[in-house]
Parts: sequence; structure tokens; C-alpha cells
Amino acid sequence: MDNHSIINVDLGDRSYEIRVGTDLLDQAGTHLAPLLAEHGDARRVIIVTDTNVAEIYLARLETALDAAAIGHHAVVLDPGEHTKDFPHLAQLLDDLLDQGLERGSMLVALGGGVIGDITGFAAAIALRGIDFVQIPTTLLAQVDSSVGGKTGINTRHGKNLVGAFHQPRIVLADIGTLATLPQRELLAGYAEVVKYGVINDSGFFGWLEQHGADLISGDDAARTEAVAVSCRAKAAIVSADEHEHGARALLNLGHTFGHAMEAECGFSDTLLHGEAVALGMVLALQLSEQIGLCGPGRADRLARHLAAVGLPASPADYGFSADALIGHMHHDKKVRGGTITFILAEDIGKAVIKRGVALEAVHDVIAASLRG
Ligand code: NAD
Ligand code: GLY
Repeated sequence: MDNHSIINVDLGDRSYEIRVGTDLLDQAGTHLAPLLAEHGDARRVIIVTDTNVAEIYLARLETALDAAAIGHHAVVLDPGEHTKDFPHLAQLLDDLLDQGLERGSMLVALGGGVIGDITGFAAAIALRGIDFVQIPTTLLAQVDSSVGGKTGINTRHGKNLVGAFHQPRIVLADIGTLATLPQRELLAGYAEVVKYGVINDSGFFGWLEQHGADLISGDDAARTEAVAVSCRAKAAIVSADEHEHGARALLNLGHTFGHAMEAECGFSDTLLHGEAVALGMVLALQLSEQIGLCGPGRADRLARHLAAVGLPASPADYGFSADALIGHMHHDKKVRGGTITFILAEDIGKAVIKRGVALEAVHDVIAASLRG
């Protein structure tokens, strides 16, 4: 039972463990029981999941909870990004209250980032805040969205514009669940893994160049290692800057360009979030080279690795226009006083926050990339 990587997110009395391993779903009851014991006799949880994940994993989780004598009820939502909206949140809150939710109740988010984000937000606001735990089942959720306490939903004004910081009590990342993840979703999550190498760990980037293909093809040891390293990187950044006043913004590497491309695709399946981050990271390194922040060759090295594992590495195939993408950037959450903040890099493994980058340079880099 103890062959897990355990990573601590250090946030004072809101600190928690991230456990990474291959058998965690079946042991969930053992890990949840001590947390429930803090609430006296409330040995009952409400699982929130989506239909895809419920079909494959809900019964296993329920069996694990039964084994620990933890009562449970499940709320099963539609899969997909459209579920992260006000109507679904309202319905979820009503379902939770119908179940007799109490301050001592605990929610369990079983699924990808969509389920984690809406469940975490429901936990943040139901009865003015109750506990929740994350059992992430996509690679993206295991390395990014389940850690750090950003929760929320989308509005017609854009993605993730309504939400709260609300940390989970524990994260159980069961690598075994990745076996059923569609390949395209796995690759999209892999882009976020690569991101940690580019941000501040060139050694990890080199390791991914060696072992990324094994991870993609199903090697559990490589998956466990990559998820644990990624979670350790995110935990360190979140522990130092929970509310994104500084270094946490580094986690947005590739996101300013990526978000503009997702917006241009109408946040549809044409371009998944992780695919957009892959394209956006290459553009961020090309911009870093263009303005002389880093030497040549870094963007090509990154693009080669992304393409080698099967991720898109050039935006030329999507029919974007540079002006349209820059237009979207002006509406980004990260715009301050009309100036776009970019996460750029001095090298692979050395990302930096840059304000006041000349828009001509941004335009030139995008236009060149669109020519292929
Ligand atoms: P997702 O939750 O939509 O999951 C992708 C698809 O995979 C869904 O159809 C889901 O049903 C299915 N699925 C999940 N696990 C599966 C499994 N093990 N086997 C088979 N199918 C499975 O998408 P995602 O990429 O996990 O998350 C994207 C969301 O995460 C976005 O809403 C994004 O805004 C959010 N996000 C949040 C943060 C944060 O810090 N809170 C960070 C990054 C992304
Ligand atoms: N996904 C970015 C963050 O958690 O800050």
C-alpha cells in the first residue's frame, strides 16, 4: 500500500498530500477514512463524476468505500466542457442539498479537469465551504488541474471566469486509470507535463525526450515518474504563491498564445486545451528568440519533441490569422492596464514573466509560424 510517491503541498493548515501510484482507486477508502474521522461521525461522501468515467471506474470506487464502511452517493454529470457552466452548477448544488449535505460532508471529484473544477467550486460555495478530494483520471488533471485549488466554471464571457481558490484535502492520482484514456486526451495532458520541463527543469525535459514515447505508449513506471515530477513542480510553485501574485503565473507558459487559438476555434474539439498549450509553448520560445531573450534552437528543440510524440507543434494547419489571435490576447484574464503579460524563457528550464513585449514582435512571430 505504500508504494506511492507522496508529494506535500505546504499551505499551513490547508496543506495536503498528493499520492501518485497504480492502485489508489481501490485504496480510496483507506485514504479518505482519516479525513472523514475529523468530522466526527459523518462517514459518508458524495462522489461527483461524468458518465464516461462512471461507466469505467465508479463501481470500483464504491467498492473501495464500502470496504472502509464509508457511505456514498453518486451524482453523474454529462461529460465535456459544456458541463462547466451555471446551469450545471445550480443543478449539482441542488442534487447535493437533496442528499442532505452538511458542513461535515465531503465531495469526491472522480474524473478529469471538468469534474474537478466544477466539483471543487461546488465544494467552495455549498454551505459556505465544505471539504473535497480529487481523484483525477486524465493526465491533464493528474499533473495540473487537481493540484493547487483553482476551481470554477465558464461564462459566456470566457473560460474559468467565475471560481474560487479552494484546496482539496488529498489528491489520489491513480496512474492505472490512464489506461482507458483516449490517446488524444493523453497527448493533450502530456503537453502540460512537458511544460514543467520548460518552466524550470531542463533535466526533466531531457528525461522526457528519452522516455516520453514510453509514457505515451503505456509504461506505468514512466507515467508514475512523470506525474510525480510534475506534481512536485506544481506543488512547489503553489506552496510559494497560492493566489498567483507572482511565480504561479509561470504555470501559464504557452497559455496566452494557446488561449487565443482555443478562442479562435470556439473552444471546440478542433483544438484541445493541451494541444493549444503545446502550440503556445513553441510560439513563446520563438518569441523569446525573436526578442533576444534566449539563444536560437530552443523552439525547434521543443517543437521536435512535441511532434515526435504526436502533438501538434505548428499552428500553420489551423487557418488562423495573426490579427485575430492578437485580438483575443487583449481579452485575456492576464491583461493588466492594456499590457499583455507573456511567460517567455531564457532557455529550456528557465521561464520568466515578461511585461511590455512589443506587439510588433508578437505579430511577426505568429505570422511567421502561420506560414509554416
Ligand atoms: P475532461 O475532464 O473533459 O476529460 C476529457 C475526457 O476524458 C472526457 O470526455 C472524460 O469523460 C474522459 N475521461 C476522463 N477520464 C477518463 C479515463 N480515465 N478513461 C476514459 N475517459 C476518461 O478534460 P481534462 O482535459 O481532464 O480537463 C480540462 C479542464 O480542466 C478544462 O475545463 C480546463 O479549464 C480545466 N483546467 C483546470 C486547471 C486548474 O488549475 N483548475 C488547470 C488546467 C485545466
Ligand atoms: N493551471 C495553472 C494554475 O494552476 O495556476
